[in-house]
Amino acid sequence: MVVLVTGSNGQLGQSLQFLAPRFPEIQFVFCTSSDLDITNKQNCEAVFAQIQPHYCINAAAYTAVDKAESEPEKAYKINVMGAKNLAEVCKAHRTILLHISTDFVFDGKKTTPYTETDIPNPTGVYGKTKLEGEIEIQKTLEQHYIIRTSWVYSQFGHNFMKTMLRLASERDRISVVNDQIGTPTHAVDLAECLVKIICHRELVEVQKPTNHDFGIYNFSNEGQCSWYDFARAIFSINDISIHLQPIPTSEFPTPAKRPAYSVLDKTKIKTVFGIDIKDWESRIRCQ
Ligand SMILES: NC(=O)c1ccc[n+]([C@@H]2O[C@H](COP(=O)([O-])OP(=O)(O)OC[C@H]3O[C@@H](n4cnc5c(N)ncnc54)[C@H](OP(=O)(O)O)[C@@H]3O)[C@@H](O)[C@H]2O)c1
Repeated sequence: MVVLVTGSNGQLGQSLQFLAPRFPEIQFVFCTSSDLDITNKQNCEAVFAQIQPHYCINAAAYTAVDKAESEPEKAYKINVMGAKNLAEVCKAHRTILLHISTDFVFDGKKTTPYTETDIPNPTGVYGKTKLEGEIEIQKTLEQHYIIRTSWVYSQFGHNFMKTMLRLASERDRISVVNDQIGTPTHAVDLAECLVKIICHRELVEVQKPTNHDFGIYNFSNEGQCSWYDFARAIFSINDISIHLQPIPTSEFPTPAKRPAYSVLDKTKIKTVFGIDIKDWESRIRCQ
């Protein structure tokens, strides 16, 4: 089984590379943005023609949430046109697409976990482009899984955990917002979830070829916290003593408005694929 991974130098891409040796039955082909530019349709067609993947995991995206407000065309090109290009080449090659989306498609007005059927209403350019990317895939390709996730962190790439550790090495006081509630997701857990979906599908294809379970799924670690709680846990496990100040979002204005609440309900992914999900706090402690 051949699985093509786009954006392989990103956080999720590197997590998939980390995990790959555990799944020798899968032939992963990792493509960086220079190997495969998802905004270039001809490039996508040429790579798919050469690799002939059974699955494509799209780990490529424009992920700079605040910067997207000042460069919406770039975010659109990658998150919408890139997703559309991949959906079209997947359709032509009968490849199943696993695409990653975000909790930022929601406005955060709910106070209970978001399910896959809740109506999205993104508040910023990044969320809007990610939602449009989802829609392009749904319009183009039946054989897709869209996995919405939140607050991704890991030992790889850029993320909140690494920012906190860097700031702690530079300062003795840090302020972090405590009125945005969500759930951290370890990128390696997300990577494992994607591989389990593929393995599950391969099994189902043999047993019940008509049962496809395509569509949207939520995935994050379990539980919920504020960014302040997340920062406190990061410092605690790293034995870092620092003055950590909880602040409201109003005291930390950012170009992009973020959802106040974006906890995702994982019932569907757990039920359909039998995925066991670790609690965010125990996960961060067993890195
Ligand atoms: N990070 C989070 O907190 C978070 C939260 C929710 C959802 N997500 C979603 O999770 C997925 C993975 O995120 P991540 O944290 O792994 O992102 P990331 O670390 O920013 O990686 C994104 C990758 O996409 C590549 N890329 C950008 N433009 C490309 C193009 N035109 N063609 C091919 N590759 C391109 C980048 O390559 P270069 O470095 O070479 O530009 C980079 O390697 C994304 O879909 C993101 O929207 C992330």
